[in-house]
Amino acid sequence: MEINVAADETAVGVLAAEAVARALRGRPAPVLGVATGSSPLSTYDALAEIVRRGELDPSAVTAFALDEYVGLPPEHPQSYRSVITQEIVEKIGLAPEKTHVLNGMADDLLSECARYEQAMAEAGGVDVQILGIGSNGHIGFNEPGSSLASRTRIKTLAPSTRRDNARFFDDDIDQVPVHCLTQGIQTIMDARRIVLVAHGEAKAEAVAAMIEGPSGAQCPASVLQWHPRVLVVLDEAAASLLKHREYYDFAQSHSGDLLLESRRAHDQ
Ligand code: GLP
Repeated sequence: MEINVAADETAVGVLAAEAVARALRGRPAPVLGVATGSSPLSTYDALAEIVRRGELDPSAVTAFALDEYVGLPPEHPQSYRSVITQEIVEKIGLAPEKTHVLNGMADDLLSECARYEQAMAEAGGVDVQILGIGSNGHIGFNEPGSSLASRTRIKTLAPSTRRDNARFFDDDIDQVPVHCLTQGIQTIMDARRIVLVAHGEAKAEAVAAMIEGPSGAQCPASVLQWHPRVLVVLDEAAASLLKHREYYDFAQSHSGDLLLESRRAHDQ
């Protein structure tokens, strides 16, 4: 894992977006994995800026979302289909017909999960996956206790996740769906690169468990310790419980050249 600590949420987004754009540029058929939630919003803003500067062609990009609620129609404002259309597709200028989101209203949810895995494979796999992290350490909707070998499937949301997400449902936990479809942990691990962003104190514990804790199902994000190309971009608050911060600051405390060199090595 490469750990970067940026000054604030905007700077987190800029660093993450640069890494994402680097991973997509030059790919003949680039595939981007997108996440919902508030964490990557500044990354999407910065990606939109990169597109405006003409440094990334969004029309060529195929995108796959991580997860979706079961039982919310796509036009529901809090369905991840709606959120992804508004916050990602329209902002960055991705092609709607190339942006895939699981259908949480499918008659046969198991077949929907299998179809999604197949579509990802046919697209050539994910070049770079953007991730946030839940306050309980979840990635996508892979809650603590998820199988580390899991693929796209139906899951029950943890009560803490439903509480966290109630803010999007008039602060009413009863309106938050109980089930979801989510890419599995192994599906996420199959991405060639991963860029995980987190900001704010509420994420500090999960971030420390992800980076420094034992790798295991109690903190699903900790499995990323086994992925060869993960960039984690944090703000100071999200990094505040890291015990070995001095080891991670290497790239930033040296000259720009060294930082670039380490980035290049990471990109190879
Ligand atoms: C949500 C999503 C995750 C997201 C996480 C954190 O429930 N399923 O993909 O990373 O929880 O959300 P936020 O960034 O809003 O804190």
